[in-house]
Amino acid sequence: MARTALVTGGTRGIGRAIAIALKDDGHKVAAVYHGNEEAAHAFEREVSIPTFKFDVADFAACESALKRIEQEIGPVDVLVNNAGITRDVQLHKMTPAQWNEVIATDLTSCFNMCRLVINGMRERNFGRIINISSINGQKGQFGQTNYSAAKAGILGFTKALAQESAAKGITVNAVAPGYIATDMVAAVSKDILARIVAQIPVGRLGHAEEIAQVVQFLASDKAAFITGSTITANGGQYVV
Ligand code: CAA
Repeated sequence: MARTALVTGGTRGIGRAIAIALKDDGHKVAAVYHGNEEAAHAFEREVSIPTFKFDVADFAACESALKRIEQEIGPVDVLVNNAGITRDVQLHKMTPAQWNEVIATDLTSCFNMCRLVINGMRERNFGRIINISSINGQKGQFGQTNYSAAKAGILGFTKALAQESAAKGITVNAVAPGYIATDMVAAVSKDILARIVAQIPVGRLGHAEEIAQVVQFLASDKAAFITGSTITANGGQYVV
């Protein structure tokens, strides 16, 4: 069934693949971006998915953007909280700004977006919320106390909201990708990345499409009995 889907961080990397996959499934998709204007315009031209620019860490900005999105595209049935940033540095050198930026963009954004769509989903008795966590929220990662905390926080948030929402036809799940070939992973130094890839049993980075396919399934009617779950897709790097 065709629905309205919103993907944050939806114009690049994993989010881009998710937006395209949901469009392929026949959904009306809107993609949110914040920083990279050029990539967003190229994305919109290439795949004809409308884009909306706002900061998912800012509740007021989310609120006004969602009003516009719901007017132009429709009430959000499928929300994919994918937007995320890294500020990798060991804790003994981390600034409060590096901590706060990651928590706000990667975790508080889930509160902001879910808070703003949940009542509509409850009224319509249907919703699919998919939160993109990370292997590094599951296992912790050297240099990522901020990111690991935010991504682990997403898992608790997902389980709690799943319980609150189950009786209203809304499923809430998390996906925990491993190291996927995106700009974010490419920012890790070559030496360190080679060491990380050596720890992945399948012997390679994942493809964004391999995460998008998991989201496609969780967003579908077939996944109605799955809620509060974390689906891990990491090439065997960390077996939960
Ligand atoms: N475990 C234990 N020790 C480690 C370590 C690890 N994983 N990584 C580094 N060290 C050690 C180093 O060997 C080094 O020790 P020596 O001085 O004795 O040789 C010491 O810690 C300092 O290491 P660095 O030189 O790397 O430290 P730095 O301060 O220059 O850099 C860093 C720190 C920027 C965090 C860098 O280590 C780094 O980029 N690490 C990778 C972090 C990472 O995996 N980020 C993931 C980004 S992608 C993503 O987040 C998407 C996703 O969801 C998967």
